[in-house]
Formats: sequence, C-alpha cells, structure tokens
Amino acid sequence: MPSADMKEHEILYDYTNMLEESVGEHGVSPAELNEARSRFREIFATLSAQRAEGVLGFMDLPYDETAAGLVIKNAAALEGRFENLVVLGIGGSALGATALRSALCHPLHNMLDSGARGGRPRLFVLDNVDPDLISAVSDFLDLKKTLFNVVTKSGATAETMSQLAVFHDELRKTLGDDASEHVVATTSADKGDLSDMSREFGWRMLPIPSNVGGRFSVLTPVGLFPAAMLGIEIRQLLSGAAFMDRRSEAEALEENPPLAYAVLQYCLYRKGAPISVVMPYSSALYDLADWYRQLWAESLGKKNDLAGRVVHTGPTPVKALGTTDQHSQVQLYAEGPYDKVITFVEVASFSASVPIPRTLTEYASTASLADRSINELMAAEKRGTEVALTEAGRPNGTVLLPEISEFTVGQLLYFFEMATAVSGALYGINAFDQPGVEAGKVAAYALMGVEKYRERRAEIEKMSKKSRKTV
Ligand code: PA5
Repeated sequence: MPSADMKEHEILYDYTNMLEESVGEHGVSPAELNEARSRFREIFATLSAQRAEGVLGFMDLPYDETAAGLVIKNAAALEGRFENLVVLGIGGSALGATALRSALCHPLHNMLDSGARGGRPRLFVLDNVDPDLISAVSDFLDLKKTLFNVVTKSGATAETMSQLAVFHDELRKTLGDDASEHVVATTSADKGDLSDMSREFGWRMLPIPSNVGGRFSVLTPVGLFPAAMLGIEIRQLLSGAAFMDRRSEAEALEENPPLAYAVLQYCLYRKGAPISVVMPYSSALYDLADWYRQLWAESLGKKNDLAGRVVHTGPTPVKALGTTDQHSQVQLYAEGPYDKVITFVEVASFSASVPIPRTLTEYASTASLADRSINELMAAEKRGTEVALTEAGRPNGTVLLPEISEFTVGQLLYFFEMATAVSGALYGINAFDQPGVEAGKVAAYALMGVEKYRERRAEIEKMSKKSRKTV
C-alpha cells in the first residue's frame, strides 16, 4: 500500500471528457467501453507472456538498485569537474535526457552561471547531425571543461558515431591521453562498437539492459546519468515510477491510470480519432510531450500485427503547449475534423507564484487581471480550453500533477510507458520493435558506402536515377 505521503503526490488521470456522456457521439460509449473491458483478461495475459519472454524490461527499472547505485557513484566521481555535459545520442538515446532536464532543472539552466547551477554542468543534447549545430557547439565548448556522454544502445548508430568521431578527434588533439577522462559511454555491455571502444580507451561505461528498447530507456543510465549529473534526485524518479507500477497492477480501469488511458485512446482510435495530442500546460513538460511522441509513434505505428497480418496501424502523436497553442492548433482541435483526442497535462501547484500587480488599471485588459496571479490565469486558460473543447464535442482527458518533482515526473514517464505496452496488446502489435526505423538506418549506411550494405546502395542508386519532378 502506498503511504499517505505518497498518495498526496500521486498523479491522476481524469477521463470524464473522453466519454459519450460528456462529449456526445464522438466520445466513448458504455457499449464500446464494455467491449474493451471484455478484452482485459487477454491484455493482462499478453503482458504477462511478454514479461515472461523478457521484452518488458522497462518494468524492472524502477527497482534496479544496481543501476541507480552505479549512476550515482559515477556522477559523484565527476561532480564539480565539468562546465558542460554534452550528450551524443539520438531518438530514445536523447529525448529522455532532454525531457528530464526541462522538467526538473531551472527553466534557464544553461544560461545560469556555475554558482547558480550549484556547480552542475550545462547540458547540451546533440540529437542531430546538423553540420551548423555541431560546428557551433564545437566552437562554443571549452573541451577542458566538457564531458561527453555518448549514448547508443546498438553502439553503431551513424548519427551518434559520427559525432563521437568528430569530438573524439578534437579531444585527442586538445587533451592527448587525458581525453579518456572526458568520455562516458552508455551502451549495451556486450555488443556494438561503443563497448569495444570504451574498453580500448578506458572510458567509463554504463550499461543499457538488453531487454529495454531505446524509447523505454529513460530510467536506465541513458536518462539517469545526465539527470544525476544535473543534480536530479534519480532515486525519487525511480520511486515515482515504482509507485505508478503498483497502480498499474489493478485490473479495474477505474483504478489503473495507464490502462484507462490506453483503453480510451484505443476506443477513440477505432471510432475515427487516430490523432493523439499531448498538451502540457507547463513549459517545463513540453519536452516530455516530445518524448511521448517518440514513444507512442515508434511503438504503435506498425505494418504487421502479432499474427503477421498486414494491418498498417497506429495513432499519430502530436505535441502542443498550453497556453501557446491555444493561439495556434486549438482552432483546428475545436472546429476541424473529429479525428483527435487531446490529453492535457496540468500542474496543480507551480514552484513559483507570480502575482499580477494592480497597475495600468485605466486599461480594461489589465484592470480585469489586477490582484489575480499568473498561476490563476494558467489554470483558467486550461479549464477554459477544456470546457470549450468539451462543448464542441471533442474528447479530452487531463493528467493532473500535484506539482512537478522527481516523484511526479517518474510517475508520468512510467504512466506513458505502461500505457504504451497496454496499447500494444490492444492493437495486437509488437510495441517493442522498430523495423521502419531500422530500414532508414540501413539505407543511410548504404549511402555512406558501408561495405555490408553494398547491394542496398545499388538499389537506392537505381531508384535515384528515375527522373525527379521538381519545380
Ligand atoms: O527507441 C528506439 O529504439 C530508437 O529511437 C533508438 O533509441 C534510436 O534509433 C537510437 O538508437 P541507438 O541507441 O542504438 O543509437
């Protein structure tokens, strides 16, 4: 049983406005919900079979004391030594670190001076091979004060390995043999080039469990090491995830937040709403919506079902930010096609309170806000959008965080991960592979001249010879 203290900090999923009784014909009807309930036994059976097969490794992470201890030990050994931490990684090897930094560090973390950062490094996540970006970061960094965390589970992703080559060369030229102190490799212990390189150059190495895929790896050293370097309490993150894990064991939709989220989204997908919008009313959680986008898209967008039939299925995740996107995408959500499900993420209590002073009272727009607060306005904007969408018959739900902390963010990450696993069972697809991504990786390697993909390169070159229609 969770302690009373934990209950006070639990996140809640309010799905009232996902139902027909709130939003009318575009919501989930009692019959549709009952039909989904009839599949619960099958869903739990699929999950327990997958767990037995070892593909649900992410479920063990909240309890992995060894990994947490290793991360904390390494972060402590490196504490205070670096001005900059640069993560070289992409996809699931990058999005978690960014999401954690944005959620749990000062909003202007990288702009603060070292004292204001508590001696913690700035964080740069290089999740692209944009030459302008790499060159700018390289010009900016003082390599003597920079630690590189190279993150790749396969140990072979072209984007990450090319960045490693660029910065390794620069490190060696600038620091000689001391360069090895400036690299931490996060990778599979026993496969890929990166683990071999780590042994050769004596880099610190943090293992990624083989049964945890990139997009489920935020609670492995992939996300935990950068987080710990930034001073984030990783044990609290894990304890939030464990708390949500225990709530996910309930077999009733009313008691199990990830189950409720997955089931309602699935019901609406089936009745014509394939777009899943996640819209935090918190700038700090916007990057977490980006992380969700990858989790949902890469896990659930699949050609084949588990029986091998061609199904081409999967919802399209979209991220939005409240209130910013009220002045952008919300027009479409309120009046466009009935093809979206909106999930707000709301924060009950922000760290800061910003009163709106009694000033400019001769103007109606400012007079009406005087003596209220920015916090109240944020809450009113969210509620206003929720009411407007509900009245327009648009299904929407709210994930409510009592506050943003390691404990609530840990719950939120695990909530979405578990919802993804349940959704995989509902859609009848494998949520843990990514053949579409692999195909693109192979094509890029072929075009870069990698010998093993010579035939693929010839095929692509043949395709490229077709005349292109360009205006
Ligand atoms: O979720 C995934 O599996 C992918 O997004 C990977 O994280 C991404 O392709 C990077 O792969 P790797 O960590 O092997 O470099």
